[in-house]
Amino acid sequence: MTSNDPALFESEASVVEPETSVAVGEIGPTGRPLPNLPEPTVPDPARAMRALIIAMCNQKGGVGKTTTTINLGAALAETGRKVLLVDFDPQGSLSVGLGVNPHLLETSIYNLLLMKGTDIHEVIRPTNVAGLDLLPANIDLSAAEVQLVSEVAREQTLTRVLAKVRGEYDIILIDCAPSLGLLTINALTAADKVMMPLECEFFALRGIALLTDTITKVQDRLNPDLQVLGIVGTMYDARTLHSREVLERVTEAFGDEVFHTVIRRTIKFPETTVAGEPITTYATNSPGAAQYRMLAKEVLAKCPGA
Ligand SMILES: Nc1ncnc2c1ncn2[C@@H]1O[C@H](COP(=O)(O)OP(=O)(O)OP(=O)(O)O)[C@@H](O)[C@H]1O
Ligand SMILES: [Mg+2]
Repeated sequence: MTSNDPALFESEASVVEPETSVAVGEIGPTGRPLPNLPEPTVPDPARAMRALIIAMCNQKGGVGKTTTTINLGAALAETGRKVLLVDFDPQGSLSVGLGVNPHLLETSIYNLLLMKGTDIHEVIRPTNVAGLDLLPANIDLSAAEVQLVSEVAREQTLTRVLAKVRGEYDIILIDCAPSLGLLTINALTAADKVMMPLECEFFALRGIALLTDTITKVQDRLNPDLQVLGIVGTMYDARTLHSREVLERVTEAFGDEVFHTVIRRTIKFPETTVAGEPITTYATNSPGAAQYRMLAKEVLAKCPGA
């Protein structure tokens, strides 16, 4: 059985209650009372922008990094913010999820990392969502991991690339590959914050210690300003004791670092990948869209000024 087997998802008839149906003050899925989150402010059109950069990181594969990057990005863009999504995974899943065929790209983030003279504005493309842009990637990026090794200040390469557009966005989200290699170190070096999606299943916690260790090393050696934004539970199934136990343990271990918002398991997410668009447009009134909008509110509440 694959993780996308329909048998693992709720049928539409038995859709679990959306997270947003839990009222403010009531106990949410993380075992804490849900806070009253402020509505996001509307950005001033004349604002000076300096993007908050968030790396979406977990070396474990298939935990919802790409799904969270796309849908959190789209939910943030709905609030009027200018958002850039950076595909930093040679699998190119973020690009695919936004309807771009990675095989057909003439230029991608690879060219920006390793070839002088490529204009980032020619590589960035708009998406179907207003205010949401994409910096795409494809398999070429796997060569960058090797080629960067011999570069001077190799860990700061992505920082230099993004510096050119930081003044044009409110938020930049970097979708990392499932590894802790040089590309991910570049993402953590470029970022202000790191966000960790965590699949609500039994072995999920195992990898977190290694990830936290890597974050500490990056803080010590490369980016002292890097902060953990939080851990977000994904693929949560409220009907299983198992999912609830995992969330409880994560909350015990990490306390307020765990987002109150939890993303539930639904077949809608694999469907959005096929459709090549975020859930906020594909199924705008679905519980999944509501959960990512609530996550966006939580992120903005934790990052005043973004
Ligand atoms: N909440 C969810 N419910 C059901 N399926 C989901 C959910 N979130 C993600 N998925 C599906 O799980 C699979 C893995 O998700 P995703 O690609 O976002 O993970 P990832 O961490 O980016 O993976 P990788 O490590 O390979 O980059 C995808 O098929 C996606 O559609
Ligand atoms: Mg991914």
